Amino acid sequence: MAILVTGGAGYIGSHTCVELQNSGYDVVVYDNLSNSSEKSLERVEALTGKKVKFYKGDILDRDCLNKVFKENDIDACIHFAGLKAVGESVQKPWEYYENNISGTLTLVDVMRQNNCKNIIFSSSATVYGNPAQIPITEECPKGECTNPYGWTKSMLEQILSDMQKADDEWNVILLRYFNPIGAHPSGTMGENPNGIPNNLMPYITQVAVGKLPELGVFGNDYDTPDGTGVRDYIHVVDLANGHVKALKKIEDNAGLCIYNLGTGVGYSVLDIVKNFEKANDIKIPYQIKERRAGDIATCYSDATKAKEELGWVAKYGIEDMCRDSWNWQKNNPNGYES
Ligand code: NAD
Ligand code: WQD
Repeated sequence: MAILVTGGAGYIGSHTCVELQNSGYDVVVYDNLSNSSEKSLERVEALTGKKVKFYKGDILDRDCLNKVFKENDIDACIHFAGLKAVGESVQKPWEYYENNISGTLTLVDVMRQNNCKNIIFSSSATVYGNPAQIPITEECPKGECTNPYGWTKSMLEQILSDMQKADDEWNVILLRYFNPIGAHPSGTMGENPNGIPNNLMPYITQVAVGKLPELGVFGNDYDTPDGTGVRDYIHVVDLANGHVKALKKIEDNAGLCIYNLGTGVGYSVLDIVKNFEKANDIKIPYQIKERRAGDIATCYSDATKAKEELGWVAKYGIEDMCRDSWNWQKNNPNGYES
């Protein structure tokens, strides 16, 4: 029995492969490498001492997916593959809907034809839109997304839920991630963004390493303690472990389940800058800029449900996240190409 990990060469997928292999699972990675490097999988192998079976393929490619199912005894799929750049999705909505929605429809069709009806899906706190309540529980209604990327997550949640309701042989676990940051504590694996980063932590680490001159802080007039945006940052290794716990839920035939994966603690942009400076003894120059379109003031989780039903809690704190992000960046200034 093996776990198919689509998008397994990417940031969260590769860290999840480490935790899966360390927990005794065999993994089969399927990735078109559109936003990743196969080198991440060499690092997984080095950390776990186990080979990773890899197929370079696209989730839109039905024949290639079928081949994977014919050649392997796949028990469940953890589905990370997708495009994720919020700004780019506004410029290229068709490409996002095609890749994320058509790709997932193709994947789940091939899965059911091969009698594999267990899926864990990478969703996002973005489905809550401007959340109706803080902290956000899973009962909080989904909201209006501000970009096509967010809509792909919201729509895919609906599609997978409808499929499970129509056929209760499906087990569908929707994991709503808050803000993943950090890197493997070994310093050998981490986030590898193309071009100038959009997200806060990779931007900070690139300022720290001297690639970018200063951080722009997007707005200091929000209704938050220091006026800057508040988010629930979660260490990528904690997030990876959430998937291992979710697999156990699948093994119990749980049906349809939705979980927030966050720490339940909110930090502002300036909190992150200060914590990064303290953890790593590096100054991060910054300048206050205009608010970024589509941003909300505050977003953090109530992660009680994942604790009670999955036995999962985030173990790493903000200092670990800042230290590990920097450790990865300084050891690998050009990501996997270093
Ligand atoms: P990532 O870009 O590092 O990983 C995604 C992987 O999917 C990449 O390796 C990419 O090459 C692959 N991929 C994309 N389209 C594909 C296709 N058509 N066929 C095969 N492979 C394809 O991103 P990540 O940060 O690891 O995110 C993983 C998942 O989690 C994504 O679905 C993302 O939307 C979701 N998510 C991420 C965040 C975040 O902040 N990083 C937050 C919430 C949800
Ligand atoms: C965090 C905070 C910014 C960059 C995004 C997606 C979301 C999810 C996670 C996938 C905000 C501020 C940022 C910078 C800044 N991804 N910031 N200067 O926007 O919470 O969430 O990633 O599902 O869907 O929208 O994360 O890291 O971009 O921003 O001041 O250069 O940092 O305004 O308050 P965000 P982020």
